[in-house]
Amino acid sequence: MSKLIAANWKQNGSSLEVDNLTREIIKGAKKLKNLNNMILIPPSVYLERVSKLIKKSNVSKRISLGVQNISPYKNGAYTGEISADMCKDFDCKYFIVGHSERRETFNEDSVMISKKVLNVFNTSQKIILCIGETLNQREKKQARKVIANQIKSGLSLLTPKMRRTASKIIIAYEPIWAIGTGKTPSLQDIFLMHKHIIEISAKIFITNRSIPKILYGGSVNSENSNEILSIQGVDGALVGGASLNAKKFIDICRSI
Ligand code: 13P
Repeated sequence: MSKLIAANWKQNGSSLEVDNLTREIIKGAKKLKNLNNMILIPPSVYLERVSKLIKKSNVSKRISLGVQNISPYKNGAYTGEISADMCKDFDCKYFIVGHSERRETFNEDSVMISKKVLNVFNTSQKIILCIGETLNQREKKQARKVIANQIKSGLSLLTPKMRRTASKIIIAYEPIWAIGTGKTPSLQDIFLMHKHIIEISAKIFITNRSIPKILYGGSVNSENSNEILSIQGVDGALVGGASLNAKKFIDICRSI
């Protein structure tokens, strides 16, 4: 099965750096033999230029565009927010919702996250719902419960009808202690947590025919990506730091 490899560039880069990075990634993608799908998720102010570079390349079918954060509202007087419709102008197909950096640094709570999920659900785009436990929660053996709660609350506003469309949601399991630290859970721990997520999702999405794809994120690099992406239940990776280097990111895409 083809994997989804997403590059979350977070709040990094200038227009020049973003152009260079995108061009280098496109160049690398042309040489990739495997059919993994790639998603580039730049800072929102650079969506337009990345979109143009992708469109004029001949790998535009294999590279999609995503957005790091999205308004919980359709449009109106919400200073500083960006709507899903605006992002459609740049052909954005994915929205990250509930990244731990938004939950922790910008105090986004589960109510806000569930509203964002609902808002994107009503568009043609897909949601990458991020979940993950802190080190403290993990040490107290609360990780499974925390993850279950984050999934349930994130999807709590979906109607029964929406719960038949699991393909709209992608879940990214990103243990907070693994983000940007160089540390990752053991392969067995990743397998068990993804299995747990599959089981919870199967109960939420009424149809048993499909459940959301599940990505792993947190210190994925070109050395560990092959092992991580080979784990059963891991449908792809959400990559932060290593995606800011075209060679490293392409090596991750090539690794499986
Ligand atoms: P790192 O790959 O830098 O650990 O970041 C992961 C992440 O937060 C992706 O959303």
